[in-house]
Amino acid sequence: MAFKFIKVNPQIEKHIALIELNRPKELNALNRQLMLEIRDALRELDEDETVRVVVLTGGTKVFAAGADIKQMANAGAIDMLNIDQFSTWDQIKKTRKPILAAVSGFALGGGCELAMTCDMIVASETARFGQPEIKIGTMPGAGGTQRLTRAIGKVRAMEMVLTGKFISADEALRFGLINRIVPAELLLSETLKLAGEIAKLSPVAVKLAKESVNNAFNSTLDEGLVFERKNFYLTFASEDQKEGMVAFVEKRMPDFKGK
Ligand code: CAA
Repeated sequence: MAFKFIKVNPQIEKHIALIELNRPKELNALNRQLMLEIRDALRELDEDETVRVVVLTGGTKVFAAGADIKQMANAGAIDMLNIDQFSTWDQIKKTRKPILAAVSGFALGGGCELAMTCDMIVASETARFGQPEIKIGTMPGAGGTQRLTRAIGKVRAMEMVLTGKFISADEALRFGLINRIVPAELLLSETLKLAGEIAKLSPVAVKLAKESVNNAFNSTLDEGLVFERKNFYLTFASEDQKEGMVAFVEKRMPDFKGK
């Protein structure tokens, strides 16, 4: 089998799958092959009924230093258009199960965009976020101008995108870009703990709730409220909703089956 740029452990803990970026010498730079591997892994994990939550990490040293500059340096616009490099990223957005990013060290350019495409971000104290594309004569192309702006607001995003400056984990937390900061050595265990909390819940409700939150970015308030209400009603078609409410009444822990 050809060398893989990611490692996938489909069941590191009950119902949790782990994807680890594996290009350490290149600081996990996101070349096309790596992104294709992430796309394929996410497709499979999304269909795997035993998996409820996915954790994506670059390990303890670096998350990802961006798209692979060496691979792109001599490309022409039509090469970029024909390869449509960033279309592989759409699978991350399309994944219906929650994806948690565990970020240590640099999350730059495409690395920052990759983390922001996930649903939550747990960062270690060493995490640094940035969109430095402007320093190499280009600009973010995988959601940096859009997701960063929505996450931290126009003026902060503008400063990061126009100067390429990095922000620390503390700033990222203060700005609302990440969920929490943990010591580097606990990054994976703390992220798995958070993933475990979600994995215990109804996969049906989690899927519909994720879809509803994401819909807030694409709809007016009234449209979003209607969408949410319908997803809420839909949960009542699930065995999990009955189990959850009956367990509450019977004062016991629910056992959700994803049905
Ligand atoms: N692409 C390809 N290779 C990269 C890379 C990248 N994005 N980032 C780092 N590398 C490689 C380096 O070339 C180097 O390889 P060699 O040993 O063969 O020279 C190796 O990884 C180690 O990197 P450094 O020696 O530079 O390590 P450092 O600790 O001194 O600096 C860094 C770390 C600040 C992250 C620096 O590597 C850097 O600035 N990297 C580029 C960051 C960047 O500009 N990212 C945006 C890319 S464009 C993009 O992402 C577009 C988009 O919207 C999707």
